[in-house]
Amino acid sequence: MIQIDHNFSGTAIIHGDTLSVLKEIPDGVFGGIITDPPYASGAADQNARQMTTSQKYSSAKPKNVLPDFEGDAKDQRSWTRWMTEWLTEARRCTRSGAPICMFIDWRQLPNMTDALQWAGWIWRGVLVWDKVNSRPQRGRFRQQAEFMVWGSNGHMPSDRAAPVLPGVFRQPMPAFTKRIHQTEKPLSVMRELVKIVEPGGIILDPFAGAGTTVLAVKQEGYSAVGIELSPHYAEAAMRRLEQADGTTDEPASAA
Ligand SMILES: C[S@@+](CC[C@H](N)C(=O)[O-])C[C@H]1O[C@@H](n2cnc3c(N)ncnc32)[C@H](O)[C@@H]1O
Repeated sequence: MIQIDHNFSGTAIIHGDTLSVLKEIPDGVFGGIITDPPYASGAADQNARQMTTSQKYSSAKPKNVLPDFEGDAKDQRSWTRWMTEWLTEARRCTRSGAPICMFIDWRQLPNMTDALQWAGWIWRGVLVWDKVNSRPQRGRFRQQAEFMVWGSNGHMPSDRAAPVLPGVFRQPMPAFTKRIHQTEKPLSVMRELVKIVEPGGIILDPFAGAGTTVLAVKQEGYSAVGIELSPHYAEAAMRRLEQADGTTDEPASAA
């Protein structure tokens, strides 16, 4: 495995299980964590939660069939326990005062904020990602938003070298035909989020998927390490970074 320590610079995607990989990394290496873990959600009951990720998250579009991804079938208790374990290990690998920011949906939001605090992080708030488009349902509110839970590894000084950032981001998901991951996040939103980390910090994405966070980090001039368990997506992320030419999608608007 590539050596990840305080001297690391550039970008790397590591193919492996986050918890095992983090155990090999020294204390206090990362300047921040920006991630999008498997939600193990997308369904109201246990049977539905154990469907494949394409059954849960993709409308059947035969032109762009994307492989399923890992870790999305846990029940809520197991998911919360597992979240607490990797968040504990990730905090050890993160500098004091460093921020963390994690995507989640409405069902798992309370479990994520529990896990964050059980792992010793300070919970600082919830950001909103307005996805603009969502399935209309008669007699129901639209599930139009996902959320980003954020916090810090202990005290976070107010004079950190980070800008004022919005609390609401408005940007549709990447078009289905252009996506390389079933739950790919918009690059422009990721480029805003990574700015919460002070310049010079190494950013960790422990669930890299198709490498959107790591690409955003690269475009914003930081260093980053992404970890991904699925061989298909680890490979896709590596290829995406190699091919990155500095182009981006539409800028996210702060709502
Ligand atoms: C929600 S997706 C991330 C998508 C990513 N934000 C993007 O834009 O492409 C979560 C990813 O975490 C990976 N994963 C699940 N369990 C993992 C584990 N234990 N270690 C590392 N990666 C894992 C899944 O294979 C999946 O690709």
